[in-house]
Amino acid sequence: MCGIIGVTGAAEPLQVMLDALALLEYRGYDSAGVVLVDDDRLWRRRDAVRGHSLETLREAAADAPAHMTAGIGHTRWATHGAAVERNAHPHCDCSGTVAIVHNGIIENYQELWDKLAAEGHTRSSETDSEVVAHLLERELATGAGLAEALRRCVGELRGDFALAAVTTREPQVIAAARRTSPLILGRIDGTGLVASDIAALLGTTRDLYQLADDEIAEVRPDSISVVGLDGQQRGLVPLEVGWDLVAARRDGYDDFMSKEIHEQPRALADTLMGRLHVDGTTELEELRLTGSDLDEIERVVLMGCGSAYYACLSGRIAFEHWARMPAEVEIASEFRYRDAILGEHTLVVAVSQSGETVDTFHALREARRRGAKTIALTNVVDSLLAREADGALYTRAGPEIGVASTKCHATQIVMLQLLALHFARQRGAIEPEEGRDLAGGLLALPGLVGRAIARMDDYFSVANRLSEVQDVYFLGRRVGYAVALEGALKLKELAYVRAEAYPAGEMKHGPIALIDESAVVVAVATRGRLWEKVMANIAEVKARGATVVVVCGEGDEETKAVAEEFLEIPVVPELLSPAVAIVPLQALAYGVARARGNDVDRPRNLAKVVTVE
Ligand code: G6P
Repeated sequence: MCGIIGVTGAAEPLQVMLDALALLEYRGYDSAGVVLVDDDRLWRRRDAVRGHSLETLREAAADAPAHMTAGIGHTRWATHGAAVERNAHPHCDCSGTVAIVHNGIIENYQELWDKLAAEGHTRSSETDSEVVAHLLERELATGAGLAEALRRCVGELRGDFALAAVTTREPQVIAAARRTSPLILGRIDGTGLVASDIAALLGTTRDLYQLADDEIAEVRPDSISVVGLDGQQRGLVPLEVGWDLVAARRDGYDDFMSKEIHEQPRALADTLMGRLHVDGTTELEELRLTGSDLDEIERVVLMGCGSAYYACLSGRIAFEHWARMPAEVEIASEFRYRDAILGEHTLVVAVSQSGETVDTFHALREARRRGAKTIALTNVVDSLLAREADGALYTRAGPEIGVASTKCHATQIVMLQLLALHFARQRGAIEPEEGRDLAGGLLALPGLVGRAIARMDDYFSVANRLSEVQDVYFLGRRVGYAVALEGALKLKELAYVRAEAYPAGEMKHGPIALIDESAVVVAVATRGRLWEKVMANIAEVKARGATVVVVCGEGDEETKAVAEEFLEIPVVPELLSPAVAIVPLQALAYGVARARGNDVDRPRNLAKVVTVE
């Protein structure tokens, strides 16, 4: 994760960096730091007060020297080394004339350190990153320029990384390189830019360029040149972007999470737009799979991490039920090491909001290596995952800044359902009439989610009454279980409450031993094939003294009667219910977190984009 910014040639490089770091903070906020460079010295300021470091840097800006030529900045999500100032980036070499910022993990850093220590280098942090500053120092001592020195270093590094470096010897140059971790280049009016993320540069320029794996860029105020690891010159590849900065601002909401919860109807409508018609026909050309390709697919494997994984659990049921296809779900971080059996008749759908999650990326690459057809289902156009896969489906949710996924999770579920319907129709697994009904159901979802959102105050009242909870068990069956898992994850990550989700029928096989008067059980008890069984499972926990909260259909008095608290949602067909039923659970986690004074956009220990294994 971690955010990187570099700027050369700007009149006020520090201001450009601070503005960009504010937009990059969602990638990590354990610490932040900047370095400015001229031909004489580096000026470095770092701070490691979690979530508040940028304020300190803004105050320090008053003392920054004028007329510095370039700078690099960083916002950190700690991996190697505690979240303290000495581990904050930028890191310097022994001479204090080279500085680097890094995102990712240098896997062989210890081995490299041992060599550097033997050559007399001393380190001042516990990070893996600092090794790069010393490697550069060594290469620069041979007379190489900064970009050439970085090229030689990259050849020695193992792992995933994005790097930017400056030195007093070439104060107008930023050298940058990447492998897997993202990094983009930009320019505007005599200013050269480097950033880990489009969001950081959109307010500044749209003249943006990609940097491929193992390419090294030399960014100057008026030129950008790129070479490969072999030293051969490479062409500049423009980066197309559609988002604008306005969409990435809070628009009057207290926080991004609240804004993004409220954006769900619009996000779902955009995801479906032009892809699904009332007659049940689907248009998914982006898949880049022909009708005969689709016919040859015998099995679907859905994979992702965190909320994306839970979206896959709902998606699987749609594939099995509508398309009558074998469908499996995999946690991406486990899949890669599983010796999974795949082949050309398997379709792997890798689901990721960011399209950058390194576990999902490597899982997709592994699936390709094993011969499967692959699709990236992501929210970020041209992301790593989208470029790696055979085809890409975009969720069109717009930028999601809150660390806990809300609108993107909902759009992932619906995109998977749409894909399942596409397969069902192509393969003749459903009658046209059923296809029409399903299309009607999917197209109604934005409105139904809007109606759930209109009940937000009711949901918050429940959250306030439960704000002191200690242990919460979320129960559900079929798609209700996927909703329960996502609800528990939201409560854990935002409110820091112990929350576990179980398939309701599984409680009696062990977890029910945990239930007593202190337990709160949230049951997804909307009407569906297994409603009666869920009600029986609720009775089992009630008999042991638990306080019961139900998610149920509007006006379902029978279900409400068994519960101490209820979260009503509009009535929706069972298999289409997850995108609606998750809304009150998002609100519950949000409300409990706010009541406890937690920062909902930046929960502790988490980062939005996880680019480490
Ligand atoms: C992190 C985020 C989660 C997200 C997961 C997968 O853990 O905190 O909210 O679900 O990454 O992210 P992706 O970008 O791959 O969907």
